[in-house]
Amino acid sequence: MKNFKELLKKEFLERLNPAQQEAVLHYTGPMLIYAGAGSGKTRVITHRIAYLIRVLDVAPNSILAVTFTNKAAEEMKERVHQLIGPYAEKVTIKTFHSLALQLLRENYRLLKVSSNFSIYDSTSQKSLAKKIFKALRIDTSELSISDLLQKINLARDDFLSPEEFYQKYSHQKHIEVLYQFYQKYIKELRSNHAFDFADLLYESVKMLLHNPEILEVYQNRWKFVMIDEYQDTNYVQYLLTMLITKNHRNIVVVGDDDQSIYSWRGARIENILNFKKDFPEAKIVKLEENYRSTNQILNLANRLIRFNTYRNDKKLYSMIGNGEDPILFKCIDEYDEAKKIVYEIYKIKNQYNLEDIAIFYRTNAQSRIFEQILRENKIPYVIYGSIRFFERKEIKDILSYLQFINNPYDYESFERMVENPPRGIGEKTLATIREVALNNNLDYITALEVSIKQKKFRNSKNIESFLKLLKSWDQLKNRISLGDLVHTIVEESGMIQYYEKDLNPENLSRIENIKEFIQSVIDYEQQQKSNNKTITLSEYLQDISLLTSSEEISDQISNQKGIQLMTLHNAKGLEFSVVFLTGLEEGILPHQFSIEDNIEEERRLVYVGITRAKRRLYISYVERRNRFGQVNYSYPSRFLEEMDLLKIEKKLNNLNDFIPKKHGLLFNTIPDEELNINERYFHEKFGEGILKEIQYVAGKKIITIEFFNGEKKRFLANRTPLRKITSQ
Ligand SMILES: Nc1ncnc2c1ncn2[C@@H]1O[C@H](COP(=O)(O)OP(=O)(O)OP(=O)(O)O)[C@@H](O)[C@H]1O
Ligand SMILES: [Mg+2]
Repeated sequence: MKNFKELLKKEFLERLNPAQQEAVLHYTGPMLIYAGAGSGKTRVITHRIAYLIRVLDVAPNSILAVTFTNKAAEEMKERVHQLIGPYAEKVTIKTFHSLALQLLRENYRLLKVSSNFSIYDSTSQKSLAKKIFKALRIDTSELSISDLLQKINLARDDFLSPEEFYQKYSHQKHIEVLYQFYQKYIKELRSNHAFDFADLLYESVKMLLHNPEILEVYQNRWKFVMIDEYQDTNYVQYLLTMLITKNHRNIVVVGDDDQSIYSWRGARIENILNFKKDFPEAKIVKLEENYRSTNQILNLANRLIRFNTYRNDKKLYSMIGNGEDPILFKCIDEYDEAKKIVYEIYKIKNQYNLEDIAIFYRTNAQSRIFEQILRENKIPYVIYGSIRFFERKEIKDILSYLQFINNPYDYESFERMVENPPRGIGEKTLATIREVALNNNLDYITALEVSIKQKKFRNSKNIESFLKLLKSWDQLKNRISLGDLVHTIVEESGMIQYYEKDLNPENLSRIENIKEFIQSVIDYEQQQKSNNKTITLSEYLQDISLLTSSEEISDQISNQKGIQLMTLHNAKGLEFSVVFLTGLEEGILPHQFSIEDNIEEERRLVYVGITRAKRRLYISYVERRNRFGQVNYSYPSRFLEEMDLLKIEKKLNNLNDFIPKKHGLLFNTIPDEELNINERYFHEKFGEGILKEIQYVAGKKIITIEFFNGEKKRFLANRTPLRKITSQ
């Protein structure tokens, strides 16, 4: 046995450098691992988990590792699984939000909500806020809903109750209104048995503070706590960490101040800078070797981040050695940018897996053109963010049915459900039902029943038939599979029939989406089943609400393979062989909202983007960009100048050589002599293919090309936009 452990120990440690080994061998007490990008911080966490469990016999369920995005958590789980196999399953590896959700699920009674509480995303938040605006008669010309929501989200990130918020900002304009709004908003959420995202953390910390015996349970449960990306924790996350580790002080935090990019969500870079103050006895480990990127990529990152003043100086050295120079390319507009990228992907796609290639952008809106061009060229892609599948109207509608069946106290869902599709139940009726529910503390199914019995409505036919449906769904839930339940609800609610009445393209796509949604539920259920879990409606809803939170929305819920598209904010912690960093223009990156007061954070965003790249890095900017229906001429980002890239742009600007600058048509037709059997060609619309046959019919040259997906197509040679692909 001893020998076996020695063997394991050797195996874990030999993959690490001496500084990393020191960090992995650290047993108890606080430790800060403070290091640059790609230096193996996350690797230290995963190896430490493995080491604790397999060599030191620490129980897997006493380990808690927290990271920032769902994707990063998934990756961490996978890496631990690779190291120790099934032992990994009992380790808690989560994002802060899903950790908070777990705490609330386990203690919902204390918060006086039903176990099936709902989680509101930004759309539901807004619709609730709208009502409060009306009720409080807030003047929308003075204050906007999104502004107010942003303020109370930040208040909770800073762990301020309405009263504390009032005190802290008493000098601010509109503070009275803000205060009233904040108070009422929280009250309404609770009466709907709902939380929003900021609430999850705020309420779980509050619960732990007020219930020492519960806190103790968690302190005893998680004896070894590790936090990745610590530089981006906000105050309430910091408090949660401190509470859980207060007794045993077994806390390891890992981070890089140069990668702090969430200050707009209340992240406090000082949490990491002050760790030594919180834990004077903390061991500090610095890692300086970078195992991810080539020298050229790191030099670029180092050159840029020098311009930030608020940072601890550190330098990264590549262990990989030299590679290819990063490529900067100028584009005419966003279509040109996307087409150039696609062309480049075609050139390199045999060297890399598609999922090892990523396209990053600053704002979600930029993804649309990339998607369009990728789709046209039949290149599979996965998108994180942007087309929020779950935020489409028809999907939100179905979700409101599910939410309501799950939690019949949820008025927001009730209202949405009643209105979609319209079923002849008007505002007055709704107001009556609401009154009955609130006055008697009833859920809305019971309130409906009571109102009908008390003959509150003149004509209750519509309401009665609707009630019948609700009751039958209520009985079905948790008795039949989730997929069947969703199917039944979709069929009986009449939403498809409603769209079928007018089969215009928009409605057709809605119907498609609804079907796709049913499929996604079935897939999700299957996936859980293969992990031996059956999932309840309430768990499903809570899980997907986190999956679809604003920071990370996966359009394809199933793990499809393809080019990875994401915002820079979502790219944190990840790595890819090839990275396209796009839209380096003033106003985009740096973003116009941050140019004046947060330029350093924009610079960190670019730094994060660059340091994701392992082998190849492409940076692009456009000369003009369509935004909000207007053509804007843009200047290259100041960051390009800081990186000294503009000077060498000409030399690097080789993509233009391939592609004529003509707008719209990407390729010219090809001269006859360049058409040869069995050679590779690129078709503007269908992508890459091989020329299989040349025929002459009625004097016209007809060519047959077999495409990437196996499909064969025939074309008139002199009318087809083709380009020969030469390997280089
Ligand atoms: N000692 C090592 N030997 C070989 N490869 C290593 C070593 N340390 C780290 N790596 C590899 O280097 C890459 C970067 O590591 P990791 O993701 O842990 O870095 P990180 O510091 O967490 O980066 P980030 O700041 O971007 O989160 C990974 O592919 C990892 O497997
Ligand atoms: Mg990391």
